Amino acid sequence: MQLKEESKKSGIPANVGSEHLKIGRFLALGVVLTSLIGLLHPSVKYILKNQLLEKDPLQVTMIVLLLTGTMAAAVLLFVTRQKMWLIVFAATTAVGVILLGMQDWVFQRQGFGAIFRRDDAWLVSHFYLGILVTLLMIFSMAIVPDIYKDRSQLWRNIHAIINSFALILFLSQGFTGARDLLEIPLGWQEKFVFGCDYTNKTCDNLIQKSAVWTGSQGS
Ligand code: HEM
Ligand code: HEM
Repeated sequence: MQLKEESKKSGIPANVGSEHLKIGRFLALGVVLTSLIGLLHPSVKYILKNQLLEKDPLQVTMIVLLLTGTMAAAVLLFVTRQKMWLIVFAATTAVGVILLGMQDWVFQRQGFGAIFRRDDAWLVSHFYLGILVTLLMIFSMAIVPDIYKDRSQLWRNIHAIINSFALILFLSQGFTGARDLLEIPLGWQEKFVFGCDYTNKTCDNLIQKSAVWTGSQGS
């Protein structure tokens, strides 16, 4: 009888749940901020390259407001414990991240916008998978009270399933992020790389440069 009672007890220490929640909250905030930094860099680059500060200061103001507002909403989501505010800040953070990611569409920009989204290959896109895992982290923060309240354990199981998927997405972010790092040229290389004609697969600008260079070497 005693043996039966003991075998029912879990070997997992009782404080594991609260430790997991503490670390989980930091993980979720960290992922949202990582995404915002990932979105900030190309946004600033686009603003500077297209002289938007002079040409369209309203657009720049809106991007700054969106970024700071989303960051503030993420921090408030991290600190708040009330169900209603969790929903409000989770929704605000999620909308902010999506709008920043789709800024070319929001501001109806012509041609290539700031964010390299890989619309034609979304399954291997650092952007789409990054936004998806960010949304999963925001969702995890918002459903904490439900995990504890729900006696049927439905929310607990939903949480375990979607966050197991999030683990795979974290791994894939490491691969696609490293690939994108290799694909994005350094600032001083940009004018050569983007000067190439990708349809006809020629780099006349480079050939001319090298001709000038070898010419000057020869003389
Ligand atoms: C990749 C990240 C994560 C994974 C793989 C994960 C996985 C899990 C698993 C397997 C459980 C146990 C379910 C059970 O008891 O049957 C759990 C519980 C829980 N998780 Fe997560 N989780 C992650 C992130 C998070 C985040 C970001 C939060 C909150 C912001 C969170 C909050 C919780 C809470 C409150 C519980 C219940 C703990 C308790 O019983 O006291 N988790 N999680
Ligand atoms: C939790 C993990 C991560 C998340 C959620 C995440 C999310 C994002 C997001 C949303 C963007 C903006 C969209 C884009 O330009 O593609 C971005 C950009 C980027 N990320 Fe990540 N990322 C993560 C990890 C990494 C890692 C590990 C690396 C490098 C190995 C990396 C490298 C990059 C690069 C190079 C950019 C492009 C920046 C630019 O265009 O100037 N990321 N990330």
